[in-house]
Amino acid sequence: MAGYVEQGPVLLNELVGPDIWRMIAELPKTAQEVRPGQFVHVKPKPTTLMLRRPLSVSDADPGAGTIELIYRVVGTGTAAMAAMKKGDILDSLGPLGTYFSMKEGKIIGVGGGVGIAPILFLARRVKGGRMTAVIGGRNREEIFWKDLFPRDTRVIVTTDDGSFGIKGFAVSVLPGLLQKPGIGETAVCGPEILMKKTAEIAARAGIYCEVSMERRMGCGTGGCLACVCGRAGGGHYKVCLDGPVFDASEVIL
Ligand SMILES: Cc1cc2nc3c(=O)[nH]c(=O)nc-3n(C[C@H](O)[C@H](O)[C@H](O)COP(=O)(O)OP(=O)(O)OC[C@H]3O[C@@H](n4cnc5c(N)ncnc54)[C@H](O)[C@@H]3O)c2cc1C
Ligand code: FES
Repeated sequence: MAGYVEQGPVLLNELVGPDIWRMIAELPKTAQEVRPGQFVHVKPKPTTLMLRRPLSVSDADPGAGTIELIYRVVGTGTAAMAAMKKGDILDSLGPLGTYFSMKEGKIIGVGGGVGIAPILFLARRVKGGRMTAVIGGRNREEIFWKDLFPRDTRVIVTTDDGSFGIKGFAVSVLPGLLQKPGIGETAVCGPEILMKKTAEIAARAGIYCEVSMERRMGCGTGGCLACVCGRAGGGHYKVCLDGPVFDASEVIL
């Protein structure tokens, strides 16, 4: 999907976790059209940034005309985002990319770090208690995400140091969860090792798995090859155009 440029004011930009910010911006057309798994390619306006930065949408409210982004400050672009104040203008190219297919049946969403953002949007759109989210973080400070999930989502928390929830990595709970009947899909986003292990466990359980790949990006529209990932069977995909959401069996993780 090619997307379009839409500019709108920031309504809220707040620190919600260690170096992690939550922004709500008024972008009515994007809010109507964006689907879980898609991203927007953004920059503050005016800006000295040459390139936009890709961020997953973590929620959209078509009625209010707003989208939510949750992002970690790691460098120049995300620091510029964090410096934005209420009323500053966010310049968005989007919504871009593929989205989760939200198959019939129960959905197991697996998220690590800021990869939880698209899983959160998925949970917010999957109604009727169909979703279980497994979210992993290094410690209890990184687990503020759990309070953002809808009430009808079952949220299982793992921390590497055991300071909250189950001690261990998010994948440790998957073999047991995927044995339950009626699961239609596993959806995962986060560190590549998390996606690789989740895809392997889902394949062994015979459950369809979608991965949301987060590559460094340049143009965001297929022109620069900055974002390629390996294609199972040979060749490559452009994550910005062919992804970020892929059938896990179609990409090399
Ligand atoms: C489809 C997609 C969705 C994304 N969604 C989110 C999101 O919801 N929330 C969020 O916080 N981040 C997300 N990211 C990652 C985000 O785009 C980068 O963190 C951001 O572009 C970094 O820009 P910067 O200028 O702050 O950092 P830079 O100055 O460009 O880089 C700082 C450091 O971050 C590393 N880095 C930069 N981009 C990436 C990347 N894509 N993956 C891994 N390491 C990177 C660099 O190697 C460097 O070490 C997403 C990326 C993609 C491709
Ligand atoms: S970011 Fe340029 S081709 Fe994908």
